[in-house]
Amino acid sequence: MFADDFRIGAAVNPLTIQSQEELLAYHFNSITAENEMKFASLQPEEGVYTFEEADRLAAFAQKHGMAMRGHTLVWHNQSSGWLFEDKKGNAVDRATLLERMKSHIHTVAGRYKGGIYAWDVVNEVIADEGDELLRRSKWLDIAGPEFIARAFEYAHEADPDAALFYNDYNESNPGKRDKIYTLVKSLLDQGVPIHGIGLQAHWNLYGPSLDDMRAAIDKYASLGLQLQLTELDLSMFRFDDERTDLTEPSAEMLELQAERYEGIFKLLKEYRDVITSVTFWGAADDYTWLNDFPVRGRKNWPFLFDEQHRPKPAFHRIAALARH
Ligand code: GLA
Repeated sequence: MFADDFRIGAAVNPLTIQSQEELLAYHFNSITAENEMKFASLQPEEGVYTFEEADRLAAFAQKHGMAMRGHTLVWHNQSSGWLFEDKKGNAVDRATLLERMKSHIHTVAGRYKGGIYAWDVVNEVIADEGDELLRRSKWLDIAGPEFIARAFEYAHEADPDAALFYNDYNESNPGKRDKIYTLVKSLLDQGVPIHGIGLQAHWNLYGPSLDDMRAAIDKYASLGLQLQLTELDLSMFRFDDERTDLTEPSAEMLELQAERYEGIFKLLKEYRDVITSVTFWGAADDYTWLNDFPVRGRKNWPFLFDEQHRPKPAFHRIAALARH
């Protein structure tokens, strides 16, 4: 439906490439590893790489002729503890940390060269609140702000053909949007090899507004970079809504979700010249990280396909849009 506009992707894992294989192969032409290419998954101990699951996902993409995005090289979460420490448990120095980062990036991006066309090089370094630009992290504490530029340089050395992305959430929130813009602009001004901005797009039925999404896309696009939605899902609940009584979505919720998805895809189509891929953070409602997050034991239904992989109202609405 959108083959002429942008790629349509899904986050997958070793279970869903089996349980959702048919759905994925039919509707999606790109995948992202949900967790299997994160630092802690790939290098749990120094110099000990565990590529088995990541390789299986890459093989799945190849088998089905799908593109693959790499996620993610540098992040403050799901990084192995050893990375920041020496054998005695003290913080390493800056040079050691950057050396470890370089070796990880060269090994990982080097291995998947040709198989992965785009990498989320740096994930979520912007502070959500306040005036600080960067989030406090061990990366920042030890290596200083330059760890960001170095990561892109190492990734570019490892795979000069890969498109390199900065990726973050709350990307349509005006305050955070401006900070993301400031960071990426400063990287460009320094001549850092960065080619795109990833808008995670963990959105819900009520926010962000289409106007805020449009303003964010306009602002990021003004940097001359390609944009991708990298983790799209539309939660049925506001972030601070803690209700747990629902065992299935109401008809009103499904209708509101359909309207939201329609508005979003209309907007994305308008920006088809700058948006090169739209990846959902899953494929169908039988598996989503939003079951249990942020409210334990609560189910959620964020996608275009239901638990049986049948198209939901949102899918039909988007399909009608694609025909125009
Ligand atoms: C962030 C990360 C993803 C994933 C989600 C939650 O958005 O970028 O890798 O961990 O959180 O599933």
